[in-house]
Amino acid sequence: MSRSVIDVPDLSLEEISALMDTAEEIIARPDDFADACRRKKLATLFFEPSTRTRLSFEAAMYELGGQVLSVTGAGTSSAAKGESVADTARTVSCYADIIAMRHPREGAALVAARSATVPVINAGDGGHCHPTQTLADLLTIRREKGRLGNLTVGLCGDLKFGRTVHSLLNAMSRYEGLRFVLISPEELKVPSYVKSDALKKKQIPYTQTTSLEDAIGELDILYMTRVQKERFFNEEDYLRLRDSYILTPEKLKNAKKDLCIMHPLPRVNEISVAVDRDPRACYFKQVLNGKYMRMALILLLLGLTGKGDRA
Ligand code: CP
Repeated sequence: MSRSVIDVPDLSLEEISALMDTAEEIIARPDDFADACRRKKLATLFFEPSTRTRLSFEAAMYELGGQVLSVTGAGTSSAAKGESVADTARTVSCYADIIAMRHPREGAALVAARSATVPVINAGDGGHCHPTQTLADLLTIRREKGRLGNLTVGLCGDLKFGRTVHSLLNAMSRYEGLRFVLISPEELKVPSYVKSDALKKKQIPYTQTTSLEDAIGELDILYMTRVQKERFFNEEDYLRLRDSYILTPEKLKNAKKDLCIMHPLPRVNEISVAVDRDPRACYFKQVLNGKYMRMALILLLLGLTGKGDRA
C-alpha cells in the first residue's frame, strides 16, 4: 500500500514543518519546481461539490509540470452504476500516480487508500476531516503570526459538522501554549470524540461559549465557519441556525489589532463582505496558501521532496 494522507495525524510535526518550508520555497522560486512532476498524473475524484480544493489540487499539479485526470460528481462516473469506492480507487490507480478524493461519506478516503496502489489524499470525507485545508490553515497562521504555538484560537460557527474545524483542532493541539475558545450554538458544538482526542487527552485549555461578542477581544485567531447545510437532517434546523454568527466591522471593534481572521470558504453570510477590506482578513490568503501546500504534499507523497530527486 502506498503512503496516503487521510487525516492530519498521518503527518508528523516535522513533516508538516518541512511541507511549510517547501511551500515557502515554491512561493519564492516557482520556476525551480515547474518540472518536478513531469510525466506524473494526478486524478481528482470529487463526489461532492468543490471549488477551492479541486481546482487548487489541479493547479498545483499543473504548476509542478504534471497532468490531471478528473471526475466531478458521482453522476458522471461509474459510481452512478453502483461501483464501490474500493473498486474505483483500484481502477484509477491504473491511470494515475496519485489520487485526491472528496466524498460525502466519512471514511470513504480510507477505504480508497486501502484499495489503491498509489497515494490517496483525503480532500474531505463527509463531516469527518479535511487535512489539506488544515495544511493551508497552518501555513497561513505561520505566515501571519510567525508561530504556531502560544496563541488563543477562536473557532466559530458549525463546530459539529465542520470537518475543517475537526482537522484544525487535531493539528493545532500538537503545538505548545495553545488555548481554544469554541463558539457555537448549543446544537453545533464540537463532537465529544474530537474534544476528547484533540483537547482533553492532551489537557489543552478550552472554553465553550455561544457568544462571539464576549470572546472576540481575547483572540489571536478567529476561524469562522459556514453552517454545513448539506449535513443537516431537516431544513428547519438549518434555517434557524444558519445566521447564528455574522462577523461585521462593528463586531471587530473590540478585537485585537493583529487578529488573524480566517475562514475555509465558501462563505454564505458568516463574514460580511465589508470585512474583506479589513487588513486582518486572511481568508483569501488561505486559498492561495492551499495551492502551495498541496504542491508540497504531492511532492512528498510522490517521493520528490529533494532537489536531487527532481533533477
Ligand atoms: N475549503 C474548501 O474545502 O472549499 P471547497 O469546498 O470549495 O473545496
